[in-house]
Amino acid sequence: MAKITVVGAGNVGATCANVLAFRKIADTVVMLDVKEGVAEGKAIDMMQTAHTLGFETNVIGVTNDYAATAGSDVYIVTSGIPRKPGMTREELIGVNAGIVKTVVSSCLKVSPNAIFIIISNPMDTMTYLTLKATGLPKNRVIGMGGTLDSSRFKYYLSTALKANPAQVEGMVIGGHGDTTMIPLKRLATLNGRPVSELLSAAALDKVVADTMVGGATLTGLLGTSAWYAPGAAGAYVAESIVRDYKRVIPACVYLEGEYGQKDICIGAPAVIGRKGVESIVDLNLNAEEKALFEKSAAAVRTTNDVLKEIKAL
Ligand code: LAC
Repeated sequence: MAKITVVGAGNVGATCANVLAFRKIADTVVMLDVKEGVAEGKAIDMMQTAHTLGFETNVIGVTNDYAATAGSDVYIVTSGIPRKPGMTREELIGVNAGIVKTVVSSCLKVSPNAIFIIISNPMDTMTYLTLKATGLPKNRVIGMGGTLDSSRFKYYLSTALKANPAQVEGMVIGGHGDTTMIPLKRLATLNGRPVSELLSAAALDKVVADTMVGGATLTGLLGTSAWYAPGAAGAYVAESIVRDYKRVIPACVYLEGEYGQKDICIGAPAVIGRKGVESIVDLNLNAEEKALFEKSAAAVRTTNDVLKEIKAL
């Protein structure tokens, strides 16, 4: 019997709730939003697909009523403003830091044992803020960025390879930023074969470049940030928690020496199960990948430093 709350019933939050319901990941899904009636309306709309789509999940929408979320196993935090075309994720920090802090402390008052999945941007910094502001143990705070970036990487790989995306394996680690993410091209495979044997170096570099600006490309097309893949990525992480699947998911996790980094939340493959982050998988990175990871961590730290400047931490 799992209860999952999605905070923010905008495009990402509502898509995430819809995936949670449709895939029967929780018995109860609560959507909470600050805008009067929006979460309620979207929840009723979703429940009117229950018979058509054949799910028994109960989806409830509430306006700022945290009491209705009490006893949630997992909170998926999507609150805050999204990117507009031309904006970086990092530019959202001022507005979103205050929102995320308030949301998370309200959630903990009614669900002291919950695990948090952070989607709000800048995602690595919002994950770090959640961890530091609440003092929660590191296993209970997870950012979803790498999950999404890896799914974009697999999509671009599949189009370059003209292959089924479900048969492509690939991972993106590092920060969830246009210049900080690290699609690990060396380790990507199609049916067990390294993609470097199947694509030219130039084609593979294009896949990497397209992946890195995958979010910005969609923001340009849509006028706001994407939602189907971000929402599904949040649900994928939540599923591994409530079903204790122990999937290895490239997620934003707190590092204490792994990958040569400390006191930072950044993308690395982690075993995600009922306890949240159960362990971090140490990939054997080569020198070039290690250098990219260091550069990425330095950029994430620069954004984290803004938290102190704006007195969010
Ligand atoms: C994206 C936003 C959700 O990458 O960060 O689409």
